Amino acid sequence: MSYTGHFRVWRGDAEGGELKDFEVEVNEGEVVLDVIHRLQATQAHDLAVRWNCKAGKCGSCSAEVNGRPRLMCMTRMSVFAEDETVTVTPMRAFPVLRDLVTDVSFNYAKAREIPSFVPPPGLAPGEYRMAQQDVGRSQEFRKCIECFLCQDTCHVVRDHEENKPDFAGPRFLMRIAELDMHPLDAAAETGLDRARTAQDVHGLGYCNITKCCTEVCPEQIHITDNALIPMKERTADRKYDPLVWLGDRIFRR
Ligand code: SF4
Ligand code: F3S
Ligand code: FES
Repeated sequence: MSYTGHFRVWRGDAEGGELKDFEVEVNEGEVVLDVIHRLQATQAHDLAVRWNCKAGKCGSCSAEVNGRPRLMCMTRMSVFAEDETVTVTPMRAFPVLRDLVTDVSFNYAKAREIPSFVPPPGLAPGEYRMAQQDVGRSQEFRKCIECFLCQDTCHVVRDHEENKPDFAGPRFLMRIAELDMHPLDAAAETGLDRARTAQDVHGLGYCNITKCCTEVCPEQIHITDNALIPMKERTADRKYDPLVWLGDRIFRR
């Protein structure tokens, strides 16, 4: 079964742009990306759109559909009424390059700021052993496909460009949490307290647990409950633990 769908798509570049209306054929079982491809093939040949896998695994086709950050390839047309106008816009938190394509280099810059895994001293890679329980604790974080929808939706940067230098965003705070939970990470032995740097350097304190990041994550990762809140608790524990407080005062002298 087919019908004519009403679409409003943002067209433009870094200099500016506008929403343009289109009528495009929609077929049963299609997703928003199918329709965008048909629009590109039949009416707007130079429409810029980033995509790769069409299976929800590469994280490339992130955009906003009716104002909600989504993967276009995983958004079924059947969730919209046939007479509804479906509006497709680029991710709002990042600078537009052209049409639906944004410059997401902010995220790569944030990734580079996080010190990587520190191998345990005295162990060669083949000698690493981890309990399944420890593996399981951070396994869900490794499902991340780096679509950056969580980064796009978090109000700390979505509406406040000025916060970007100080805030790594949920995806990268989650990365710090993952490393902090890693039983073999020897960062602490080099003097690096990952949870504390999340707070002091990467802006964990900006997060007020709105959970919007968790709501838009296509991998259903419990970013807030399983990564951010435990890390907040750890830093709060340290801050209010009188022994830690005393130790800090003595050893910082
Ligand atoms: Fe995307 Fe989820 Fe990874 Fe954020 S945590 S980048 S929403 S997959
Ligand atoms: Fe932002 Fe997620 Fe915290 S949306 S405010 S990082 S809970
Ligand atoms: Fe790969 Fe959508 S095209 S996630």
